[in-house]
Amino acid sequence: MVKVTQTSSRKSDHIRINLEEDVTSSLTTGLNRFYFIHEALPDINLEDVNLCVEVFSKRLEAPILISSMTGGTKETTKINLNLAAAAQKTGIAMGIGSQRAAIENPELIESFQVRKVAPDILLFANLGAIQLNYGYGIEECQRAVEMIEADALILHLNPLQEAVQPEGNTRFAKLLEKIEEICKNLPVPVIAKEVGWGFSGQTAKKLSAAGVTAIDIAGAGGTSWTQVEMHRAKTEDQAKLASAFIDWGIPTAESIAQVKEAAPELIIFASGGLRTGIDIAKCIALGASLGGIASPLLKAANNSVEMTIQKVQEISSEIRVCMFAAGIEDHEQLQKTPLVKRNNQIE
Ligand SMILES: Cc1cc2nc3c(=O)[nH]c(=O)nc-3n(C[C@H](O)[C@H](O)[C@H](O)COP(=O)(O)O)c2cc1C
Repeated sequence: MVKVTQTSSRKSDHIRINLEEDVTSSLTTGLNRFYFIHEALPDINLEDVNLCVEVFSKRLEAPILISSMTGGTKETTKINLNLAAAAQKTGIAMGIGSQRAAIENPELIESFQVRKVAPDILLFANLGAIQLNYGYGIEECQRAVEMIEADALILHLNPLQEAVQPEGNTRFAKLLEKIEEICKNLPVPVIAKEVGWGFSGQTAKKLSAAGVTAIDIAGAGGTSWTQVEMHRAKTEDQAKLASAFIDWGIPTAESIAQVKEAAPELIIFASGGLRTGIDIAKCIALGASLGGIASPLLKAANNSVEMTIQKVQEISSEIRVCMFAAGIEDHEQLQKTPLVKRNNQIE
């Protein structure tokens, strides 16, 4: 029988709460302030709109990333396999959830191993960067990458979540230099990722100087991890502390703009509250390469691989029609398309 560690039981709580409760931030992504200029006479055919993009030398059929979510328990093996099979079928990228549980307990490794159903996808390993301040180093990072034959490693940064978790790891001081050490020594690219509160331009600049190749914005406007932790809280005081942060964070659109301006050399993955293909297209026009989606795909993958494929295809069609209606032929042109910003909009 698989040993239940504290990390894997926390992961089970997270999945259950994300599936059953409303854990949405009270902020919006800020993307509703931007719009494409409609093109009444596009000089292209709908079927010729090209969604392909190359990231880390792998070609994707659409600029979509299944954001890092799960693994580490028996139930999540099915979710990961459904997500990965859908990514393989549709030609998109995928991140796996934090692999700390499997580093602690090798019996859980299998719940992260998706290459058997997704041999070709762009796949990201995942560890909490904070673990580098609690004994992890290059060896654990390498193990995470090798465990799933990943193309890159995501180090996620979640100080606020750790701060409102009763068992949280909150010693963040001097973490940047540990991240730099990993970037220097890991043979695959390192991506720094938030979990729903975004990056400021200043922080992106520091991470870029430390050697990270890409930033996954994970801005505010979607899943709020303080709301998730509020539902997990064992005492009234813990719940109250967590719920005070429902409107915290840098909205996704704002964070993309800041990171692009402060560190234009970084590859940007946009995520946090993206719910349609139009959201993803807007993020690409604002400077991202890909758009990541977590919660809606978790719900689909908890049902079946077919539903997951259907959801990804729905998002792809939205990107395609959005590009067509704005007269945009391909990803390169989309990245150069200016968006109009609505002023004084009542939200
Ligand atoms: C059930 C669940 C588990 C998650 N676990 C992780 C994780 O292990 N590592 C990580 O970097 N992000 C994790 N995230 C955060 C997501 O990758 C994403 O940044 C965040 O949910 C915002 O995206 P969304 O609004 O589309 O849900 C998780 C999200 C969900 C819903």
